[in-house]
Formats: sequence, structure tokens, C-alpha cells
Amino acid sequence: MVYSSTEITLVSVVVKCYQRTHMPKPKSSSRRWLDRHTKDPYVQRAQREGYRSRAAYKLLELQRRDKLIRPDMRVVDLGAAPGSWSQVILPLVGRRGRVIALDRLALDPIPGVEIIQGDFHTDEVLSHLIDMLNGESLDLVLSDMAPNVTGMKAIDQPRLILLAELVLEFTQSMLKPGGSMVVKVFHGEGFDEYLAATRRSFRQVVSRKPEASRSQSRELYLVAKGLRVEPT
Ligand SMILES: C[S@@+](CC[C@H](N)C(=O)[O-])C[C@H]1O[C@@H](n2cnc3c(N)ncnc32)[C@H](O)[C@@H]1O
Repeated sequence: MVYSSTEITLVSVVVKCYQRTHMPKPKSSSRRWLDRHTKDPYVQRAQREGYRSRAAYKLLELQRRDKLIRPDMRVVDLGAAPGSWSQVILPLVGRRGRVIALDRLALDPIPGVEIIQGDFHTDEVLSHLIDMLNGESLDLVLSDMAPNVTGMKAIDQPRLILLAELVLEFTQSMLKPGGSMVVKVFHGEGFDEYLAATRRSFRQVVSRKPEASRSQSRELYLVAKGLRVEPT
């Protein structure tokens, strides 16, 4: 039997209509991400408890284990947007403490938190931060900064280590002796050297992978306590 072209077109239109209405659409990767995100228990908890992101629970766990933040402290929160770490820090340092939050993205105001918008890599932003401190040294530097990931380890890893090195340099010059630093790093090339450099500057360094940190993420946090007066 030979079908006319009109019949063929008609059949293909009917098949397409059937597929559109009856077959499930494959999910795009952004849709899959959204599904995973909304079902994430830490996302749901953050919404209930008023934190701006699930990252709050990473710092809360570090605080539970390492007792980093105390009343009256001066703290810098690097890579602060959307602001959940600053939300955690503020009540812990209290009214006589100071929290400076820095991010290259805009951060909605958090009453009591001083905000700097800009890239930590730039001299201009660094000078602004140093000016704001007005000669006061810090008790704690926290960095949750991560460069935009390309998915290519050979590019992402050196970028993150470079950023972590800048944080260590900044900390060495602005932290008071005995102060602490928390910095996000990825396990991979350059990590061992970075860990060794941190150990030369601090008396105690541990690495932590908080429960809220996704298991598929290579991120971990170095918690460094007791800045030495003279690096060893
Ligand atoms: C994982 S998010 C931080 C989440 C934050 N701790 C919270 O609790 O809401 C990482 C942030 O680092 C910032 N960031 C990355 N590189 C930066 C840089 N060079 N200077 C300033 N901010 C940076 C990003 O814009 C991003 O907002």
C-alpha cells in the first residue's frame, strides 16, 4: 500500500499531538536542580528558620564543634552573599561585636552588618576593607568564597587555591595574634601546600566537611586557630 504525502503528514501530526499530551517530558538539568533544591532538607529548614541559604548550617556545625564565634568579636565574612553566615554570626558577637560582610554580588541589608560589595581580588576592595577596619585588628576571618566553577578541575582548582592564598595573606596581616580563620578549599592540586602554609601560621588546623556540605562537592573547610606571632 502506498500512502499519499497528505496522509503521511496527517499521521505525523497526530503522533506528535499524542506525544505532547501523553508522554512525560524529559527534565532539563535546571529543572532537575530545582527539584533537588526544593526537596533538600537543609533548604526547607533554612526557609522555616529564616536563614537566607542552607549554607547557614555549615557554619552552625563549625561553631558547634570549634566554638569560633564569641561575644564582642570583630569578624569579616568573605563571600557573604546571600548572607546566611552573617545572620549566624551577628547574634553570636552581640551588640559590641562587629561583622563586615564582603561579596562581589549585592547583599540585601542585614541590620547591624556592614556590607562591602566588590571583588576580593582587587586592590580597591581590599583597601576599602582595610580602611573600614581603621587600624582595628580582627578576631576571626571566614571565607566561603568560591570562584564560578567551570566544571574543569584544571581551571577551578588553581583559581580556588589562589583565592584561598589571598585570604591567608589578608588574615596574616589583619588578624590579631591568637585569632582564627575558616577558609573553604577543594581537595586537589595545591591543597597539601596550602595546608602546610596554614599550619606554619596557626597553632591548630583541622579540616571539616560539615553535614550540610553536599557529598558530591569537593569543598571542605580548614579551621585554623591561634595565629602565631611569627610564622614557623
Ligand atoms: C557559597 S556562596 C556564599 C554563601 C554565604 N556563606 C551564605 O551563607 O549566604 C559563595 C560566594 O562567594 C562570592 N565570591 C566568590 N568569589 C569572590 C570574590 N573574588 N570576591 C568576592 N566575593 C566572591 C560569590 O559571589 C558567592 O556569593
